[in-house]
Amino acid sequence: MSKTSTHSLRGKKILITAGPTWEMIDPVRFLSNRSSGLMGFEIAKAAARAGAKVTLVTGPTTIRYPVPNGGAVPLGTGYLTVVRVVSALEMYRECLKRFPKMDIAIMTAAVSDYRPVKIEKHKLKKKMDAKSRPSMTMTLKLVCNPDILATLGRRRSEKQYLVGFALESRRLLAYANTKLRRKGCDMIVANAVPALGASHNTATFLFRDGHIVSLPSMTKIQLAKKIIQTIAKGSHNAIIP
Ligand code: CTP
Repeated sequence: MSKTSTHSLRGKKILITAGPTWEMIDPVRFLSNRSSGLMGFEIAKAAARAGAKVTLVTGPTTIRYPVPNGGAVPLGTGYLTVVRVVSALEMYRECLKRFPKMDIAIMTAAVSDYRPVKIEKHKLKKKMDAKSRPSMTMTLKLVCNPDILATLGRRRSEKQYLVGFALESRRLLAYANTKLRRKGCDMIVANAVPALGASHNTATFLFRDGHIVSLPSMTKIQLAKKIIQTIAKGSHNAIIP
């Protein structure tokens, strides 16, 4: 990695999403997934160290980062602002509000595709049948969440550089390629299910021009640097006509 491509992120505004979302069912229960948020946090730190002004919108994670909610702290030659949200709808609103001012957006979050139609005000009690036995099944009605990446893909300008992630348990590259086009991205980072919650990842980069780069297994810290180096080059090409 040459210094030039790292430094080309100096002053660039980057929006990053990370972590899972929690879709509340009642005051104590929620729907979510196994995402740890580590990939997004490492990408945010690598981007700030490369000189960018980074806004990280993260769902609930156990990663402790000593930044007050919404406050910017210097990191390397850049800045990192962490915005903490809980649900997909909150993440969607925060991203849409901030996106117009961004040069680059990298969506690593494992956003819940659905949320309960209604959040119960009180803790749900088990349903009982006529003989006071717990009923053996229950149905939860869900409604589709907005797709943050696809929305940004529709609203983006050609000067903005948009990166998505694809996590699949089968047909990884075929699904990733469909997502790249359907969601209007410049680049997709495709990874398989073992990446979830792990310290290492084996990723493949797919680009809008059809070119593909397959990487060996590496730590998420190393992969974050690779992603930032690649975006620095790619977004530079996109921004300079
Ligand atoms: N994504 C998003 N908002 C959503 C769902 C996904 O921004 N509501 C983004 C993710 O952050 C990721 C990309 O879209 O960058 C792909 O997410 P993934 O969950 O793999 O795909 P889905 O769109 O949910 O598609 P499917 O359920 O068909 O796999």
